[in-house]
Amino acid sequence: MARGVSRVVVVETPRLVLRRLSMDDLDDMVALDSDPEVMRYVTGGAGTSREDMRDDLLPHLMRYDERPGGYGFLAAEDHAGTFLGWFHLRPPPGSPPDEPELGYRLNRAAWGRGYATEGARALVDRAFRDLGARRVWASAMAVNTGSVRVMEKCGMRLVRRFAFSGEPIPGAEEGDVEYAITREEWERAAG
Ligand SMILES: CC(C)(COP(=O)(O)OP(=O)(O)OC[C@H]1O[C@@H](n2cnc3c(N)ncnc32)[C@H](O)[C@@H]1OP(=O)(O)O)[C@@H](O)C(=O)NCCC(=O)NCCS
Repeated sequence: MARGVSRVVVVETPRLVLRRLSMDDLDDMVALDSDPEVMRYVTGGAGTSREDMRDDLLPHLMRYDERPGGYGFLAAEDHAGTFLGWFHLRPPPGSPPDEPELGYRLNRAAWGRGYATEGARALVDRAFRDLGARRVWASAMAVNTGSVRVMEKCGMRLVRRFAFSGEPIPGAEEGDVEYAITREEWERAAG
């Protein structure tokens, strides 16, 4: 992203900068979703058109910043400013405001370096330490081993298995899993 005045850093970790999304992220967001491997367990591989990203999805994700509570979608960069993907920490529609859902989507080039774990742990800490969350949860297709492993590495535990509700993409027959960590569990783990 060309660094402009709209660059608002929310969280920094040793290797990551998590900052608010902006329309300057359009190209990177379209490119991220255009990799069928990235989208395999999200849509079955289909990407997001530039028009849909520009007119609908990206503005929708950015609007989370307008809501109270400090939650939302955050672009992830390395400290050199290279776009890696995004994380979210947000109560989805219909969820209690103090039970945010954690999510992540990274470029394939960034996989396997512990970035998702590093960003996700920082957001779990932020949820409990700074935002007053009572519980943080995440869900994934059961076959999305990488995503499930990130949840486990954040201290989350399996809460339930449930039927996949989206398009019948490969792996959907195994269902979805929900993982979560409560404030009490987080405090115990932090010692
Ligand atoms: C899921 C995703 C975010 C993981 O990112 P990542 O930065 O590679 O994850 P990490 O490097 O932090 O790895 C965390 C753990 O998961 C394991 N892991 C990661 N990808 C894996 C895979 N495809 N299969 C098996 N294990 C995997 C790692 O080995 C590591 O475990 P370990 O420390 O015990 O070895 C990344 O693969 C991605 O963006 N996928 C596409 C989008 C997506 O599916 N998002 C989740 C939707 S619910």
